[in-house]
Amino acid sequence: MTNKFIFLTGGAKRIGKVTCEAFHREGFDVIFHYNRSVAEAEEIQSKLNEIREDSCFIVQADFNSADSIKKLQDSISKITNRLDVLINNASSFYPTPIEEATYDEWSDLLSTNATAPLFLTQALLPFLKNAKGSVINISDTLAPSGIKNFSLYSGAKSALEGITKSLAKELAPEIRVNAISPGAILWPEDEDLSDDQKKQRLSKVALGRIGKPEDISSLAVFLSCANYITGQVIKVDGGRSVI
Ligand SMILES: NC(=O)c1ccc[n+]([C@@H]2O[C@H](COP(=O)([O-])OP(=O)(O)OC[C@H]3O[C@@H](n4cnc5c(N)ncnc54)[C@H](OP(=O)(O)O)[C@@H]3O)[C@@H](O)[C@H]2O)c1
Repeated sequence: MTNKFIFLTGGAKRIGKVTCEAFHREGFDVIFHYNRSVAEAEEIQSKLNEIREDSCFIVQADFNSADSIKKLQDSISKITNRLDVLINNASSFYPTPIEEATYDEWSDLLSTNATAPLFLTQALLPFLKNAKGSVINISDTLAPSGIKNFSLYSGAKSALEGITKSLAKELAPEIRVNAISPGAILWPEDEDLSDDQKKQRLSKVALGRIGKPEDISSLAVFLSCANYITGQVIKVDGGRSVI
């Protein structure tokens, strides 16, 4: 039997980590990328390999570095020649009020949120074609309608949604391309929000509560085998976008 493989970016923590674990439970062999979180990545790798020998591989890259895509392609080709799923999850995220926004910030936010997903899809096309695989990009429910003080991040995620729909047309019928668009799932790590700030943000969510990483990973697992769904951006936002 041929193993099913997933490659996911930004898998060492938070939503990426939970998604790697969910696909592993579904019987996939998991290759995931990390940038700085080496200790966390190694810990997940050991845990998954204890459950099933040689079922988890980790690869490092910084998407601000020009050779990162080639480096990942080379590393993956040493493990497998087929990918059933590519999940572009890694992201940088921080405010960039327009008066102070810099070219370097634009370059960073665009690299992680749009350029890497686009060129990783290109570099891994032969692997995806071998498995008739699919691509899942992780966007943000608020990005297309704009986020105050986050114009660079919002622009990059909006580009990702345009790329998703364009590639769905271009790569059909062999490869499906979709996006998941989370709302408030986990509070940002480096933003220390007060209880009042959290309450204020949740007041705009119809379900009145924050989501869970499993709300994203379960949809990703579903999309990986939803053979008649392509070109969709699916919001998982507790109704944030309908309020
Ligand atoms: N959390 C939410 O509620 C929420 C809401 C809306 C959208 N989303 C989207 O859902 C996805 C996952 O969210 P999250 O909060 O779990 O993500 P996160 O923790 O903010 O970031 C995921 C990973 O991205 C990697 N990364 C950052 N800069 C990088 C770079 N220059 N090169 C390579 N990798 C880099 C980091 O890897 P290392 O740690 O290894 O450095 C990080 O662990 C993201 O695409 C995010 O935009 C999340």
